[in-house]
Amino acid sequence: MRLLVSSTVFSSLLALSLMLGLCVCMDSLNQSQSMSEGERLISAGGKFQLGFFNTDNSSNRYLGIWFYNIPSKTIVWVANRNKPLNGSLGLLKIEHGTLVIQDNSGQAYWSSNTRSLSSRSTTTKLLDSGNLVLKYDNSETYLWQSFNYPTDTMLAGMKLGWDFKAGMEWQLTSWKSAEDPFAGHFSYSMDPRGFPQLKLFEDNITRFRSHPRFGGINTSFDSVITSIFVYDSQEAYFSYDLHDQNSLVRFLVNYTGKVQHYKWNTQTLDWTLLYESPSDSCEEYAKCGPNAVCVIVNAVRTCECLPGYVSKSAEGPDTLDPWYSGGCIRKSPFNCSGPEGFKRVKRVKLPDLVLFEMNTSMTLKECENMCLGNCTCTAYAHPFESRDKKGCVFWFGDLLDIRISNAEYEPRELFVRVVASELEGNSKRRKGVVVAAAVILSVCSAIFCLWASWRRRRGQGVRLDVHAGEEEKFELPMFDVVMISQATNNFSHFNKIGQGGFGPVYKGQLPNGQEIAVKRLSETSSQGLNEFKNEAVLIAKLQHRNLVKLLGCCIEGQERMLVYEYMPNGSLDSFVFPGTTGGSCLLWRTKFNIIVGVAKGLLYLHQDSRLTIIHRDLKASNVLLDSKMNPKISDFGMARTFGEDQFLEKTKRIVGTYGYMSPEYVVDGIFSIKSDVFSFGVLVLEIVCGKRNREFHHPDHNFNLLGHTWNLWVEGKAHDLIDEQMEDSFPLAEVMRCIQVGLLCVQKCPEDRPTMSSVLLMLDSESMRLPQPKKPGFYLERIPDGINRRENTAKEITITLLEGR
Ligand SMILES: *[C@@H]1O[C@H](CO)[C@@H](O)[C@H](O)[C@H]1NC(C)=O
Ligand SMILES: *[C@@H]1O[C@H](CO)[C@@H](O)[C@H](O)[C@H]1NC(C)=O
Ligand SMILES: *[C@@H]1O[C@H](CO)[C@@H](O)[C@H](O)[C@H]1NC(C)=O
Ligand SMILES: *[C@@H]1O[C@H](CO)[C@@H](O)[C@H](O)[C@H]1NC(C)=O
Ligand SMILES: *[C@@H]1O[C@H](CO)[C@@H](O)[C@H](O)[C@H]1NC(C)=O
Ligand SMILES: *[C@@H]1O[C@H](CO)[C@@H](O)[C@H](O)[C@H]1NC(C)=O
Ligand SMILES: *[C@@H]1O[C@H](CO)[C@@H](O)[C@H](O)[C@H]1NC(C)=O
Ligand SMILES: *[C@@H]1O[C@H](CO)[C@@H](O)[C@H](O)[C@H]1NC(C)=O
Ligand SMILES: *[C@@H]1O[C@H](CO)[C@@H](O)[C@H](O)[C@H]1NC(C)=O
Repeated sequence: MRLLVSSTVFSSLLALSLMLGLCVCMDSLNQSQSMSEGERLISAGGKFQLGFFNTDNSSNRYLGIWFYNIPSKTIVWVANRNKPLNGSLGLLKIEHGTLVIQDNSGQAYWSSNTRSLSSRSTTTKLLDSGNLVLKYDNSETYLWQSFNYPTDTMLAGMKLGWDFKAGMEWQLTSWKSAEDPFAGHFSYSMDPRGFPQLKLFEDNITRFRSHPRFGGINTSFDSVITSIFVYDSQEAYFSYDLHDQNSLVRFLVNYTGKVQHYKWNTQTLDWTLLYESPSDSCEEYAKCGPNAVCVIVNAVRTCECLPGYVSKSAEGPDTLDPWYSGGCIRKSPFNCSGPEGFKRVKRVKLPDLVLFEMNTSMTLKECENMCLGNCTCTAYAHPFESRDKKGCVFWFGDLLDIRISNAEYEPRELFVRVVASELEGNSKRRKGVVVAAAVILSVCSAIFCLWASWRRRRGQGVRLDVHAGEEEKFELPMFDVVMISQATNNFSHFNKIGQGGFGPVYKGQLPNGQEIAVKRLSETSSQGLNEFKNEAVLIAKLQHRNLVKLLGCCIEGQERMLVYEYMPNGSLDSFVFPGTTGGSCLLWRTKFNIIVGVAKGLLYLHQDSRLTIIHRDLKASNVLLDSKMNPKISDFGMARTFGEDQFLEKTKRIVGTYGYMSPEYVVDGIFSIKSDVFSFGVLVLEIVCGKRNREFHHPDHNFNLLGHTWNLWVEGKAHDLIDEQMEDSFPLAEVMRCIQVGLLCVQKCPEDRPTMSSVLLMLDSESMRLPQPKKPGFYLERIPDGINRRENTAKEITITLLEGR
């Protein structure tokens, strides 16, 4: 009966107070004041409020903090999460220097458990950061603060981690359900073992591990926050700062088992989810088991053993996901007296740092020797983003939770210890298997009848003759799919050297020892077959020292592959943009030779081959380098051939890469050899400056690299552009000429741009007076509407658009 009465009284009181918007309208309480249900404290800047709340359909009430000025009640902190009020009215007050929640009958529901030592009077105050603090009057030292006792939400200024000195931990714990603030199953905290890493736990099982941050640096995490990491003998924690102090941002461990990053959208009046983890199935902690690498292939999780390891499961590698829990074990155990070495695994999130050691004064070579010298050392890596910084991390024992990086992580290279026989093993193993038996097929008119041929092939030597015109006859070697598969270790992830617009590229070695690059067209690509035929025919006809040579192709069922000569030095982007991939810088002489070489290759495509070929996707990653650093243009998948007089074509499908596409191509879908000239100009400026056009940032303006170059050119300060990494002495006139040629090539009007033959003349001649460039096209970073933007997920993507014309 009493309960009924008091709860009725409570309800009407609550209703009344809500109706009248009754509040104390202060941000603090002193010792002689108290706050009852229905009343609020509001922080001075009006960002947060403190009050009692209940969730839907429940008579349980809690003291909590939520945002003040937004329509949805988003709770960021709860005091009595495990002991709700459910009967008579609650009250918040200060008692003997302690903050307490009591009901009418004096029963306590929560306390800050602080005791002030003296009889000094204390005040509690809600700060504009969302922090509720308790302090002596006229003092700024906090006796207690809610930021030290987070619930499920991390606000800017809060910490996650450890205060070693005080033995205090800051961690987040999810609610039990959407409606119940009771401590749930998920927590997000810093694993105190090993290197400080944030981990998401479900009860006591690790579910997700964030990327380790070795530098101890503060980085701009996204456009909204700067993420802070502090690690010293006193404390280790993560925290964050807002770029815009007025923005409303929260990190949260959701009861659904996700770590989420939300920002309030003032337009839609809703929370926007910026980011959540785990975001794909490879983020789930160590899902592939020990010593395996997780990789997402066509949206499906796949596990691969590290080099030198085999699946532990008895079923062997043919079952669907054999490494699911058991992981991988060493093929041959180390015995620490036989010869050993390391195999490199590229682009990974480094293994969990539990049994590890770190040394910041070792070079990578010292690291290798150090690891070899300790029998239990299984791998090492360079931890920092910058290659210039010395440092090394070693792992001992099993390697856990490795994945091939997604865009959210800055990838690293892992060096995995293997026995020496493993280092030479691949080529030996391959040699025994394939016996070449040359069967010559002379078939196929017009394009190909590749289909008929595959059944009759045996081994390597099948040849396919392509008649591309009446008088021309090309012999295009056909490779057997079995052999290609063996050459590439069954298309192992470790053989993957790149990802082109239409599929991955693998490195391989033929039984005769020749190294090859295999472009495997993705089966899901609907344009695949046409692009493939196009590329095969084209390249079969093209022979130039600045074009990558096609050795043959391979077709079987849905499988379509192109086999190229292998370029040991990889693509130009790793040299020109060393920051992102850790490549080394180039001397000016090499840079200049590359510019001239690419110009020659492009000129050949435009004019000297019998057809006019427009590349349409010229960019740094499509320029490969042979062992002598000679440039060779690759990826003709999107090229088109034309009759002599068809210089323009209006296309319905826009294919290319942002940052390199000319304005007329992106906006109107018109392309011509001048669109390639534009891309070439971008490439020249990128090579000279050592920066990507698209990712170029300048503190003073929003121009991309083209705009920046143009500004400096107009101001007569173009030499400021020169890559600071460049060696001390270089021919300034030559560099300036390249900048001018680059600017001429990226002029807005296609007619103003020079042809590639003029470009070569200009590059070649020291005395020739070059024309003054006009304003470049696309000097602002502007993306036209209606194009599918996916650039957040990758540094550089090839886009495809079907225009509804
Ligand atoms: C507490 O605040 C009230 C209202 O501002 C004031 O009247 C009272 O004197 C204060 N008491 C103490 C102990 O400071
Ligand atoms: C609250 O109760 C209503 C009516 O019983 C029900 O439809 C609704 O799903 C409940 N809401 C929650 C969150 O439990
Ligand atoms: C109120 O809480 C007490 C103790 O936590 C519990 O025994 C009781 O069942 C609760 N009453 C309601 C109505 O939830
Ligand atoms: C997790 O907790 C359960 C039950 O409390 C316990 O049996 C188990 O050993 C714990 N696991 C770990 C890894 O601590
Ligand atoms: C990172 O930020 C914290 C807090 O703002 C600061 O104390 C620390 O010095 C910063 N570290 C670096 C390397 O800038
Ligand atoms: C938890 O996640 C769900 C699903 O993403 C979302 O709807 C909900 O708003 C999240 N909870 C909070 C408190 O943000
Ligand atoms: C260690 O390996 C080497 C080379 O493989 C071999 O000669 C030697 O017998 C092995 N020693 C032991 C103890 O297995
Ligand atoms: C790091 O390596 C250097 C060089 O080998 C060595 O002198 C130093 O003692 C090492 N530091 C630690 C902390 O192990
Ligand atoms: C190898 O490294 C581990 C871990 O640091 C250490 O405990 C062990 O003593 C080392 N062994 C040798 C032979 O140096």
